[in-house]
Amino acid sequence: MSDGEGEGDAERAATLRREIARHDRLYHVHDRPEIADAEYDALFAELQAIEARRADLVVAESPTQRIGGAVLSGFASVAHDPPLLSLDNTYVEADVREWHQRLLDHLGVAELPSPLVAEPKLDGLSCRLVYERGKLVLAATRGSGDIGEDVTANVRTIRSVPLELAHGAPERLDVRGEVVLPRRDFDQLNRALAANGDKTYANPRNLAAGTIRQLDPRLVAARPLEFRVWTLGKVDGGEAPATHSAALRWLETLGFKTVGRDGCVGDLDTILAWYAQLLARRDDYPIEIDGVVLKVDSYELQQRLGFTARSPRFARAWKFPARQATTRVVAIQVQVGRTGTLTPVAVLEPVALSGVTISHVTLHNREEIARLRVCVGDTVLIERSGDVIPKVVQVIDSGRTADAAEYVFPTACPTCATAVESDGDFVAVRCPNFACPARVQKRIEHFVGRSTFDIEGLGEKLIEQLVAGGHVKSAADLFGLDFATLVGLERMGEKSAQNVLDAIGQARRRPLARLLFALGIPDIGETAAEQVATHFKTLAAVRAATVLEVEAIHGLGPSSANGLVDFMQGADGCALLDALAAAGVEALPAEKQGGALEGKTFLFTGALPTLTRAEAEARVKAQGGSLLSAVSKKLSYLVVGDAPGSKLKKATELGVAVLDEAQFLALLARPEAPL
Ligand code: IVH
Repeated sequence: MSDGEGEGDAERAATLRREIARHDRLYHVHDRPEIADAEYDALFAELQAIEARRADLVVAESPTQRIGGAVLSGFASVAHDPPLLSLDNTYVEADVREWHQRLLDHLGVAELPSPLVAEPKLDGLSCRLVYERGKLVLAATRGSGDIGEDVTANVRTIRSVPLELAHGAPERLDVRGEVVLPRRDFDQLNRALAANGDKTYANPRNLAAGTIRQLDPRLVAARPLEFRVWTLGKVDGGEAPATHSAALRWLETLGFKTVGRDGCVGDLDTILAWYAQLLARRDDYPIEIDGVVLKVDSYELQQRLGFTARSPRFARAWKFPARQATTRVVAIQVQVGRTGTLTPVAVLEPVALSGVTISHVTLHNREEIARLRVCVGDTVLIERSGDVIPKVVQVIDSGRTADAAEYVFPTACPTCATAVESDGDFVAVRCPNFACPARVQKRIEHFVGRSTFDIEGLGEKLIEQLVAGGHVKSAADLFGLDFATLVGLERMGEKSAQNVLDAIGQARRRPLARLLFALGIPDIGETAAEQVATHFKTLAAVRAATVLEVEAIHGLGPSSANGLVDFMQGADGCALLDALAAAGVEALPAEKQGGALEGKTFLFTGALPTLTRAEAEARVKAQGGSLLSAVSKKLSYLVVGDAPGSKLKKATELGVAVLDEAQFLALLARPEAPL
C-alpha cells in the first residue's frame, strides 16, 4: 500500500466515523433519520472494511467499537461524587402546592424568582456518565447512591449514548440520566422470551436493569435500550449554563437525548395543567413513566434551597395514581410453592390495566381472603402501581351476587393430597411432602433461575414435561439428562436439545452463595446465602455447621439458622447435596471479601488532571484497596499528577509501579489486567 492510499484511508475512516455518529444521533437521539437503513449499513460496512485492513485506524470512539468483544467477569465498584440522590415523593396536588409554598417560605419571597420545570419521571434505572476531553470514559449504575457499578462496556452499546461529544464539550463532564427500554420493545422481548420458554420480566424497568447487569455486552447491544439525561452533574474546564432547562438544551447540542424535549417550563399553574395532560396520555407515552419530576429551573436558586439528608429541596417527584380497574372473580385456585406454602390466587375475568391484560391476582394467604371478605363471583377493584404486581384493593359490595360462594381453604394439598400443616402463626398453610410434584417443579424452576444456577432454555414448560415424565425428581437429575431424553420431548428440536444440554454442562460450577440460595431452603434468601457463603467459605464447612455457629453470623436469625442446619443435616437435604456432588456439581468457594484491589496499596502525589484527591482515594477504597501515607516497599502503586517531587524519585528507586491518571483509571476499570 502506498503512503498516499494510507492517508486516504485515515481521512475516509474519519469522515465515515463522523457521518455514522451523525446518523446515529439523528436516528437515536432526534428520531429524525435522514438516510435509509441500507445506506447507513453501507457506510458502516465501508468503515468496518477499512478498519479490518488498517488496525492502526481503529479508535475506541469508532461506532464499530460500541460492542467490545470480551465477556466481563464482574463489575468494578465506582464511587459517586457527589452521590446520586433520590427525590421525595408527592402524590396529590395539595402536596405539590405545599412544597411550592415551602420554597417561597425558605427563600422569604412572595413569588418564585425562577420558573419551575416539569419533566416525565422515567421508570428505568439511574446511570451516571463521565466524559473526559469529549470521550466517554465511565458509565456507572446508581447502586447505593454513593457507590455504584462500572457498566461502561454495556452502556457503550446504547446508541443514544454518544461515545464522543460534539464540539464545545468541556474538559470533564458528568451527566446523570435514566436507562430505559421503550414499552414496545419490552413487549416484543417478553413475547420472544415466553416463546422460548424463558422467564418473562414484570416491567420494562426490570428488563432494563437486568440487561445493564449482563456480563456479555453483545447481549446488551441486542436490546434496544435508551439513555435520557435528566441532570447535569459536575462540569470542569468549561462554562456550565445557569439553568436546568438551558443545561438540557446544551447537552442536546453535545449529542445527548434528554428528558427536556418532553418537559414544560413555567409557573405553578402551568405545571399543574401540564401534569394533567401528561397523566391523560401516560399509556401512549413510548416509555413507562410513573409520574413527573418538578424542579426549580435556576441553578442559583437550587443552591440556595439546598438539600436535606438524601434529597434536594428544589425538586419533587409527583407520582401518578395507581391504575385501577374492576372485574369479577371467576375462581380461587391454590398454588403450591417450593417450600410447600399454599398461595390462593384469584382467577379473574380478564381485564386490561395499563396495557397489560390481568387474569390472575394473588390473594397471598387465607388471612387476606378473610380480610377482604372475597368470595368467588364477587366484583373486585384491582390496581397496579407502576412496577408492582396487581393486587385486590377491595370487594365492591354492590357487585355481590346471591350465589356468591364463600371460599373454604383446602385441608389437603391440591397437587399431592397430603394433609396440609399450618405454622404457629396460623397464616401460612403448607404441604409437608418434599416429593410433592408441585414443589419439585417449583424447586427446579428456582434452581435454574437467573439468580441461582442461571441455566438458559430450561423454562417452566420444559421442566413440567421433565417432572411429569419422571425424568427429573430433583435438581441433581438435571445434570444426568441426555440428548435422547430431551429430544424425545414435545416441541424439542435437536438444536434446542443440544443447547439445553450445553447450558446444563456449563452450569456445573457455581459460586457457593448461588448454590445455597438455589437449594430453596426456607428463610435462606439471596442475602442470607451470601452471608453464609462468606462466613463458611466452603460447602463442606456449611454442611458441618451448628445452629449456634450460623446464628452467630450477623444478621441471621434463629429461623434461618435452624432452617439451614435442618436442611444440611436432614435426610432430604443430604440426599440432594450428595446427588449434586455425584453429578459433578461443584460449589466454588466464596471469594475473599472486598473488591478487585484488595491487598493493593496506593499513594497519590501532585494534583491529578481531572480527579480530585478525595475522588481518587474514594475509588481505591470502593474497590477494596487501601492508602499509604509514604513511599515504601509495601506500596503497590504511586499515582502521580503534576509536580510529583521527591516521592516519585523514591518510588523509582524502590521499583514501585508509577501510574499517571489515565493508567490509574484504566487499572480501576480492569483491575485484573496487568498494566
Ligand atoms: S431528577 C436528586 N428527573 O427518579 C435526584 N430523576 O425518584 C435528581 N428519574 O433517581 C433526580 N426521571 O432515577 C430526575 N426527569 C427526571 C427523572 C428522574 C426519572 C428517576 C431517577 C431518580 C429517581 C428519583
